Amino acid sequence: MDLDSLLAQVQRADLLRFATAGSVDDGKSTLIGRLLADAQGLYDDQLAAVRTASTRNGQVEIDWALVTDGLKAEREQRITIDVAYRHFSTPRRRFIIADTPGHEQYTRNMATGSSTADLAVILVDASQGVLTQSKRHGFIASQLGIPHLVVAVNKMDLVDWSEDTFCRLREAYLTWSAKLRCPDITFIPVSALLGDNVARRSEHMPWYDGPTLLGHLESVPLVGTGNLIDFRFPVQYVSRPNAEFRGYCGTVASGVVRLDEEVVVLPSGRWSRVARIIGPQGDVDHAFWPQAVTLCLADEIDIARGDMIVRAGNLPWTAREVEAICVWMDEAPLRVAQPYLVKHTTRSVKAEVSEVTYRIDPNALHRQPAGTLGLNEIGRVRLHLHQPILCDEYSRNRATGSFILVDPTTNGTVAAGMVIDRLHVAGGGAARNITRHRGRVTPGERAALLGQEPATLWLTGLSGSGKSTVAYALEEELVALGYTCMVLDGDNLRHGLCRDLGFSPADRAENIRRLAEVAKLFCDAGLIVITAFISPYRADRDSAREIIGADRFLEAYVDAPLAECERRDPKGLYAKARSGEIPGFTGISAPYEAPEQPALHLDSGSRDVPSLVAETLGELRRRGVIDAGRRAAPGA
Ligand code: ADX
Repeated sequence: MDLDSLLAQVQRADLLRFATAGSVDDGKSTLIGRLLADAQGLYDDQLAAVRTASTRNGQVEIDWALVTDGLKAEREQRITIDVAYRHFSTPRRRFIIADTPGHEQYTRNMATGSSTADLAVILVDASQGVLTQSKRHGFIASQLGIPHLVVAVNKMDLVDWSEDTFCRLREAYLTWSAKLRCPDITFIPVSALLGDNVARRSEHMPWYDGPTLLGHLESVPLVGTGNLIDFRFPVQYVSRPNAEFRGYCGTVASGVVRLDEEVVVLPSGRWSRVARIIGPQGDVDHAFWPQAVTLCLADEIDIARGDMIVRAGNLPWTAREVEAICVWMDEAPLRVAQPYLVKHTTRSVKAEVSEVTYRIDPNALHRQPAGTLGLNEIGRVRLHLHQPILCDEYSRNRATGSFILVDPTTNGTVAAGMVIDRLHVAGGGAARNITRHRGRVTPGERAALLGQEPATLWLTGLSGSGKSTVAYALEEELVALGYTCMVLDGDNLRHGLCRDLGFSPADRAENIRRLAEVAKLFCDAGLIVITAFISPYRADRDSAREIIGADRFLEAYVDAPLAECERRDPKGLYAKARSGEIPGFTGISAPYEAPEQPALHLDSGSRDVPSLVAETLGELRRRGVIDAGRRAAPGA
């Protein structure tokens, strides 16, 4: 089977993962028990045991809740999260239910069991109406990005199978959820106790012509929730059975990896190649989410549990400060600035919540100012981590965008979180208690020593427009003429100084800020600096001008039409961007703001490099950066 069809199989609609939400009173255990039994997912002996237990209690009906209580043992074995996974199947589909037996901490189930769910079933008691907790469930499901929601309106037998009650409840829920970025919602009237509309059509509700719950679960179209684009491999453990073998074991959290591919190990940033991929049946030439494999790399690199292997050119964030939506699930409220443990992929990192930005009121869906979060509350927080985590936004990558918070004193899970952004410590704050020192050598003395006027020629333009080519050709000419200069190239600096940065507008701003600071230092040292950064945002270039000093900043627009850059595509990045593999690619899915009045407009779409270099040298002479009369240095 080829890779594409294998990938298609992972996404194929034959496995549905769903989560259930509701408390004991809503009849959740009863519903799950009923579903399992009616779907014939129960083993006969389990069924017999339940029958015996139920009869022993003097009950006539089978107590379906006992079925799910049997899951407790399973649940206890899970180390981190209080969720049991139950498998069952029908001829049409296989199912995995993530469930916790209901208790007051009803958000726990939703938040922790749902991170890979395709669908969430929210139970509402028809005799009670839509309570706040059902709204919370719906809100969490929408935050989690679960594509399908089923509101199972239960206990229809208690409201005389009333169509009116069902419709009123549906309207109330829809009115509320209109404010949400909501997935597809289906309402099904059921009686879990009697089995109506669970797997069998109800004779009591002829007015309902929709599917039964099981029918819906069997037929709902699946879009697939896994990310098959960004390769992320959190290392679970290092296998060293003998001196010859060193393998890194783990589960592919997202994406695909192929033999021979270039990879980067984070956080060290070391590069290597994939030498072997070992699956359960032996060597394979690729692996993808959600397979568990062992990877061997071509180079001996020090890798430990918690490190992440990713594909070169597609890095997650390395973040110490993150903004997250948290669902609080502990009796004890959140304590700002107190120690917690963040469990994220295979890493555990000490952390504090530095601020609760707001709490979300599940009824009105408003943001409320809050100093803390209590049991079942949802809010936005800032987390300060003692070591960086390697994460992505939750909306892009559920596996690397989610985490749990653990209280180190009780070891209990207190919250589930979704990363929405990461923060850079803003300037200004860091400058507190710091004074400037001034050396006695002046910039003029340095300039005189080198016999040149320091300046920064800031090349901006699309990827592939020729910035680096022009920069290096110009550098060669200048050096030949006896000038001291330095090229700062975007791709190069992103391997070191800026290797923690990606391509979001915020990251690019930080990238440009750092590079401008470096250019300024080189200028202070008397050098002629040539920079080659896309620097697509006008505002970022303006702040670079401010940092470096307007009098020694020359903006040059390296201008080739997008179509031409894409035709050249020297690094194959445009093709990847078009296929969706590189999000936010300048010119394709992120903007490029051309300079309005550049000092120099270089038409790199139609002119050759020597003529562009000659034009630039002319401009540098005209501005007095280089001396018109100067000749090549001896020996150059
Ligand atoms: S900048 O926007 O922050 O100025 P910079 O010049 O440092 O970008 O880096 C651009 C280089 O990164 C490109 O030449 C390209 O090789 C690579 N790259 C990777 N992802 C992107 C992306 N999303 N957008 C633009 N360039 C990208």
